[in-house]
Amino acid sequence: MDLYRKVKRTFNLLASRSKVRFLLLTGLQMILGLLDLLAIVIVGVFSLVGSAYLGVSELPNSLRDFLRITTNDTGSLGRALVYLVSIAVALIITKSILALLVLKKIFLFLANQNVEISKQLGRRFMNASYEIISKRSSQEATYAVGRGLHISEILGSATVVISEITLLSLMLGMILILEPLLGVNILLYFSIVYFMSQRKLDKWLSKNSLIFSQSNVKGDQIFQEGVTLYKELYVANRLNEIVERFSSMRAKVANATANIQLINYIPKFTFESALVIGACLVGIQSILLDSTQSALTSLIVFFAVGSRVMPSLLRLQSATNAIQSFSGASEISFELIEALDQDMKDPKTSNSTLVKIDRKFDGTIRMIDVDYDYGAESKFSIKGASIAVSKGSSLAIVGRTGCGKSTIINLLLGILKPTSGEISLSGMEPSLAIQNWSGAIGYVPQDVAFLNGSVRENVAIGYSTQEIDDEQIWNCLEMVHLGLLFSSSELGLDALIGERGIKLSGGQRQRLGIARALYSNPQLLVLDEATSALDAETEEAISKTIQNLSSKITLIVVAHRISTVQNVDQVIYLDEGQVRAKGAFAEVRAAVPDFENQASLMGL
Ligand SMILES: Nc1ncnc2c1ncn2[C@@H]1O[C@H](COP(=O)(O)OP(=O)(O)OP(=O)(O)O)[C@@H](O)[C@H]1O
Ligand SMILES: [Mg+2]
Repeated sequence: MDLYRKVKRTFNLLASRSKVRFLLLTGLQMILGLLDLLAIVIVGVFSLVGSAYLGVSELPNSLRDFLRITTNDTGSLGRALVYLVSIAVALIITKSILALLVLKKIFLFLANQNVEISKQLGRRFMNASYEIISKRSSQEATYAVGRGLHISEILGSATVVISEITLLSLMLGMILILEPLLGVNILLYFSIVYFMSQRKLDKWLSKNSLIFSQSNVKGDQIFQEGVTLYKELYVANRLNEIVERFSSMRAKVANATANIQLINYIPKFTFESALVIGACLVGIQSILLDSTQSALTSLIVFFAVGSRVMPSLLRLQSATNAIQSFSGASEISFELIEALDQDMKDPKTSNSTLVKIDRKFDGTIRMIDVDYDYGAESKFSIKGASIAVSKGSSLAIVGRTGCGKSTIINLLLGILKPTSGEISLSGMEPSLAIQNWSGAIGYVPQDVAFLNGSVRENVAIGYSTQEIDDEQIWNCLEMVHLGLLFSSSELGLDALIGERGIKLSGGQRQRLGIARALYSNPQLLVLDEATSALDAETEEAISKTIQNLSSKITLIVVAHRISTVQNVDQVIYLDEGQVRAKGAFAEVRAAVPDFENQASLMGL
C-alpha cells in the first residue's frame, strides 16, 4: 500500500492528458506481456504435438479438436508443427519490434514528463512566497526542483510492476487450471518468499535512499558554505573542520549507496535459493505421496514454471525496489511540493492574477495600516504602518538596526505579503505592478548578490544577450563612478568580477549594485543601505547623481548615515516595527530625541 501511495503521488503530478497517455502506454506494455505469454503457450503446444509426431505420446483430444487434426497421421501433425512454428516465430518477432517501439515511447514520454514537472516546480517555486524561498538553502531548492525529481524512474518502474503482475497472474491462473494442486503450492511458496523478503527490503531501501539524498545535499551545502566563508574560517583556523564535516556526509552517501546496491542484489540470491529449495520440497513431497515417476514430472513442471515465474518475480522486485529507492530520493522534492500546495492555500500569499493595465507607472506608493509578522520564528512584527509617497518625491526610512526598515522595503516591493492592511505601487498590488510595468522599479538590496560572470551580465541581470544595450550599461556605470575602472580595463564590459564579486572592493560591489538598479531607467528607485560602504566623498557624489534623478523619479532610501537623508522630502522614523514619526527632516528631528542626538553627533 505504501508502494501504491508512492506511485500515486508521483502519478498525480502529471497533467490530465499525460495521465491518460501514461495509462495507455502501460496498457500497451501489458498487451506485449500477453503476446509473450501466448508465445510460451504455443511452444508448449508445439512440444505436445512434437511428441505425438515422434510417437512418444498421444495428442490430448481437446488439443486435437482445437487444432482441427482429424487423424493421427504424421502428415497432418507435421503440418500443424510447421503452422505452430510459423505463428510462434511471427509472434516473437512482432512482439520484439513492438516492445522496442513501446519502450522508446515510454522512455521519451517519461523523460519529457520529468522536464515538464521540473519546469513547473521551478516556476511554482520562483512564484511562491518569499517565506518558502528563504526557508530553504539554495542547494536544497536546486536539488528539489532538478536532480531530486525522479518522475521517470518511479513511473517507469510502475509500468513494469503493473505488467509483471498481470503476466504473473495469468501464468499462475493457467497453471492453476492445468495442475491445480501444484499451482496452489507454487503460488503459496513464491508469495511467501516474495512478501517476506520484500517487506524488510522496502523499509531498508526507503531509509537508505533518504539518507543518500539528504547527505548529498547537506555535503554540497557544507562545502559551498566553506567556500563562501573562506576568509572567516581561515582566520578562525576552522577550514579543516569543514572538510571533516563534508567528508562525513560523503561517507554517509557512500554507505547508503553500498547498501542500496546490496539490497538490489538480494532478490536474485533469494529467488535462486528459493527455486532450489522449492524443487527439493516438491521432489520430497511427490516421493512421499506418490511414485518416482510423478516426482520427476512434478519436478520438471516446477522447474519449467519456476524458470518463467522467477525472472518475472525478479523484474517485479527490482521494479518495486526502484520505486522505493527513487521515492526516497525524491522525498526532498515532495516535501517542497507539499509546502508549495500549502502556500497556495494561504490567503496571505495567494497571488491574484494580473489584468494588464495600459497606463504609465506613476511611482506613487501607498501603505495603509499594514501589519506583518515573521511567524513563530521571530518575535518582531510591523504594526499599523502607513506610508504615502507621491509621484517624484523622496522618502527616507531611518531607525536603529533591527527596527524593521528592510522588512518595510520587502513589503513595499511585494517580496513579503502583509498579514493585514493594504499596499499599492502606482495603484496596484506590488507583485502585480512589478509584472505590469517590468523595469519600472530599480532596487538595491542591503546585501547585493552577484553572478559569477562579466560586468555586462551583472549589470543587465536577467536580460538575454541580444537584449543587452552596452551603451546604457556604460551610462549606468558612469553614474556610479565605475566607468573609468572598467573602460581602462582591456576587457571592458567582459571583465569578470568573480564569484560573489570577489574581484571587486566592497564599495565597488555596492556601486555595481546601484548601476544594476539604474539599468532599466526605473521610475521608482529603492536603495536599502546602498552606499554604506562608500567613503564620504564618493557617497556624496553618488547621492547627488541620484538626487538629480529623483526630481524625475520616486526615491526610497534606507540609510544609517543621517547626512545622506537630510535632503529628502519625507523622513520616516521606525522604532521596533512602528512608525514613531514622519515628516520633513527637521520635524522628525524635533519629534524623536534619539534622532536629534544622532544628527547633532554628526554635526548637522
Ligand atoms: N526572514 C526573517 N525571519 C525572521 N525574522 C526576521 C527575518 N528577517 C528579519 N527578521 C527580524 O525582523 C527584524 C527587523 O529586521 P530588518 O531587516 O527589517 O531590520 P533593519 O531595520 O533593516 O535592520 P538593519 O538596519 O540592521 O538592516 C529583526 O529583528 C530581524 O531579526
Ligand atoms: Mg536592513
